[in-house]
Amino acid sequence: MRENELIKLLGEMSLSEKIGELNQIPGEYYKETLNTTGENATLDFPQELVNAVGSAINVSDPDLIIKIQKEHIKNHPHHIPMLFMLDIIHGLDTTFPIPLAQACSFDPELVKELSAAAAKEACATGIHVTFSPMVDLSRDARWGRVMESSGEDTYLNSVMAKAAVEGYQGDGLENEGTISSCVKHFAAYGAVEAGREYAGVDISERFLREYYLPSYKAACDAKSGMIMTSFNTIGGVPSTANKHLLKDILRDEWGYDGVTITDYGSLTNMQSHGISDKDDVLSEYAINATVDIEMCIGRYYKGLPKLIKDKKITEKQIDDAVFRILKLKNRLGLFENPYRFADAQKAKQICRGKEMMDIAYNAVSQTSVLLKNDDNLLPLNKNEKTAFIGPFLESKDLLGGWPGNLKYRSEDKSVREVLEKNLPDGSLLMTVGCEMLGAEEPMLIKRKLPCETDEKARKDKINKAVEIAKAADKVVLLLGEHPRAGGEITSKVDIKIPIIQQELFNAVKEVNDNIIVVLFNHRPLDITHISKYAKSILDVWFPGSMGAKGIVDMLFGINAPTGRLTMSFPYSVGQEPIYYGLLPTDHSTDVSDTFVTGYIDCPLKPLYCFGEGLTYTDFMYDKILLNSKTLAKGEKMVASISITNVGKRDGYETVQLYFRDVFASVSRPTKQLRRFKKVFIKSGETVKVQFELTVDDFMFYNVDLNYVYEPGEIRVFIGHDSNTEDYETFQLV
Ligand code: GLC
Repeated sequence: MRENELIKLLGEMSLSEKIGELNQIPGEYYKETLNTTGENATLDFPQELVNAVGSAINVSDPDLIIKIQKEHIKNHPHHIPMLFMLDIIHGLDTTFPIPLAQACSFDPELVKELSAAAAKEACATGIHVTFSPMVDLSRDARWGRVMESSGEDTYLNSVMAKAAVEGYQGDGLENEGTISSCVKHFAAYGAVEAGREYAGVDISERFLREYYLPSYKAACDAKSGMIMTSFNTIGGVPSTANKHLLKDILRDEWGYDGVTITDYGSLTNMQSHGISDKDDVLSEYAINATVDIEMCIGRYYKGLPKLIKDKKITEKQIDDAVFRILKLKNRLGLFENPYRFADAQKAKQICRGKEMMDIAYNAVSQTSVLLKNDDNLLPLNKNEKTAFIGPFLESKDLLGGWPGNLKYRSEDKSVREVLEKNLPDGSLLMTVGCEMLGAEEPMLIKRKLPCETDEKARKDKINKAVEIAKAADKVVLLLGEHPRAGGEITSKVDIKIPIIQQELFNAVKEVNDNIIVVLFNHRPLDITHISKYAKSILDVWFPGSMGAKGIVDMLFGINAPTGRLTMSFPYSVGQEPIYYGLLPTDHSTDVSDTFVTGYIDCPLKPLYCFGEGLTYTDFMYDKILLNSKTLAKGEKMVASISITNVGKRDGYETVQLYFRDVFASVSRPTKQLRRFKKVFIKSGETVKVQFELTVDDFMFYNVDLNYVYEPGEIRVFIGHDSNTEDYETFQLV
């Protein structure tokens, strides 16, 4: 439809139709079984609202979507089609590695490929919008939602945000295989106090703009069709109706003209925040902040008519919101074809087809992080006697939080099944060693999950594990967080692996020194004890539907892990939030002095740092070369370095460029990532890697919140990870 036709349509709509457009209905309403989050969705939506409602969430069956849409446009006074939205966080029917793992690939092309694959499954299923990517800067491992993010670095987050939006939306939403992204959670949800779910955020406007907002802006600049507000307050102001955030910055400063949607029931969070319990008062905050769609609890439906009647808002404000929604529907081609590309037969072919499973398989090694590999214990040799022990040996749930369709979990393979298929009989020593959780596990206070309750069985399992560990040359321990211990409402104060698994680890380490830990996790964990005794640690996160085969093929060297950490692993949870590039803040300029920042009982740095990760070969870095000693506006600086693969295997190295602005009018981080490149280097070969920089790369918000760059010394670091101390300097002029 042309824009003037949209304007004409808007002009013909009644007020109740318009208000319907701003409301959303939960899938349960259509008797669809789903895993809705947020406020109970069995709302008694009146038929008038159902006839006029603009969208629905959590309907994921193509035939049902077609049926609902058909009914809807028949009953709607202007036959305006609905939008169908769903949380497709890391895959729909095919589950890919969790987003935090995807970020560890340091490969935006991979993130784009995985998002495009998810979009292809979703599009055939009839979904129009996914509530993804989540781009909240995440620096506190106590917060369970870090698994949905790209981690602790602003620049990497922004690169991955753009890649995900481009993946979902392709070359245009009129095309088959695409869906609209909905970037979230705007804003700064990842900075909740103490990592506590739904807690308040208190950061300065300067930090908000410098570190937290760029990733949302990258998604908006990539034309994300939608953006979702967040549950948290910032300085006591609820983000979900924060006029400064949503109107002044998002709309007026950034010029974002896409659709804004609340989080599920987040207007009710405003009631919890103590703002109001009145539908019209909450709706007034939200519509004045230019929030377009209220997710699933009907407060707009109940609140807006009164505001119009009391002349507290104008119908134009409603019209502006409705028009943004109509434009998104138009971008999706829904006025020409309300069913878009929903096709049950096609969905059956595409979803979990070979193409998708191959993509899922290839992602596993690119997102896994080899944290240590002493004595080159990995890769394994099939002639060695290797024991495989741990609760993740037989688990078929390697999907993690916000999984795709759990109904397919039983079809996925376990590590045990893959091992038995790939390796000669009898050579395999295998046992689970323990259940995922023991009855004493603190998280069971809030989560009803299966756990070990039989003390004798507990002992017998460990004893059996010890027996086979004794007989083995090497032991692979498959340990980690419970698959449901990540995502929303999974904040934890203890980020070690479950107690029962610690017992198993300690029993095995007594009888075998050659321990390899394969770690399943949603977040950085406190693995200090494990790291002391395990010679190798391979972090696979939650690797998705093809995780088992991906893991086994990495263990036996068919593929090499090439991921790098995008979140720091602490020595202790007491260090959280912890991230690289802390602001310099010693009390003495002599860092060997005692008056320096940090703790008396723990190192300042993390156990494993941002950018860290090994592979099955080694690389040597030559000197950093800068093509000039100065850089002025309009000029380009070229920083380059030669890297040699000094190992026996070809492999990938992720080269990282950081900078430090040594002196500025505000305190600047000791390091900031500004470029990275994942390069393939053959064994024995040398590759020259080049990065181009301009003054734009060194701009920041000064004390007056002006976005500036200041002349002075810049240090350019290029290295293997954020711990690198190799740098060259130039003068910004
Ligand atoms: C949840 C989450 C959000 C999700 C939404 C819809 O509460 O905060 O990330 O997209 O509801 O399920």
